[in-house]
Amino acid sequence: MSKLILSVVQNSPEFGQVQANIEEALSFIPAKTELAVLPELFATGYQFVDRDELASFAEPVPDGPTCRALLKFAASNNCAIIAGLPEKSEDNIFNTSVLCKPDGSVEIYRKIHLFWAEKLIFDPGDLGFPVQKFGNFTIGMMICFDWIFPEATRSLALAGAQVVCHPSNLILPFCPAAMITRSIENRIYTVTANRIGTEHRTDLSSTFIGCSQIVGPGGDILASLSDNEVGAATAEIDLMTFDKMMTPQNDVLLDRRPEFYKLK
Ligand code: ACM
Repeated sequence: MSKLILSVVQNSPEFGQVQANIEEALSFIPAKTELAVLPELFATGYQFVDRDELASFAEPVPDGPTCRALLKFAASNNCAIIAGLPEKSEDNIFNTSVLCKPDGSVEIYRKIHLFWAEKLIFDPGDLGFPVQKFGNFTIGMMICFDWIFPEATRSLALAGAQVVCHPSNLILPFCPAAMITRSIENRIYTVTANRIGTEHRTDLSSTFIGCSQIVGPGGDILASLSDNEVGAATAEIDLMTFDKMMTPQNDVLLDRRPEFYKLK
């Protein structure tokens, strides 16, 4: 299997309406999809007023209601799903992305780079940037603001990720363009799933920019949604169509000269 049908889902969740938001987001996934990527915190909404409110929505993985619903959908539709949720683990609450596979297994990534007020209520991720196998594909996950740190995508690419899935709740306008660069500089597919709508539950009003997209390793946008629609966009990707070569003489990973880089 060198091909994969990928869908990126864009929603506009109503804060706190977890069950309805899950049902709506899953209803957007097109029938032939093999891997669907949903936004960060796709079922809860984004602006928690404080950690206590966040704790009331946080759930254990895989035994919480959101993860169980994703696993049920994955098994009945033979489709893997990546989606963001608040994960409760002992006394910690992480901003987590789950990869729910049709065989019932679950892999997780915990957001490393917390954004703005997230720093006041979430615990920072503690698992690094692992990669996971899905069929013949190697998948990596990162979440929203991780995009501004090229080290995140590069760490996943160096670990072998061919497809980086990126659940997001983007507010700043720069990310869609930046992810084109992340794809090119690592020669990987990137899938950014964002939401739309506005939340004003704290002192800040947050408007989410939509513009979800699937980008190919040459920087080409293979599928996308606008800044004001909900639904899904789909692309079939083929691992046989690219390699790490920027020119016949330049491998974007092997040509690195880390002995000259200042990393600390
Ligand atoms: C973000 O990291 N949710 C902007």
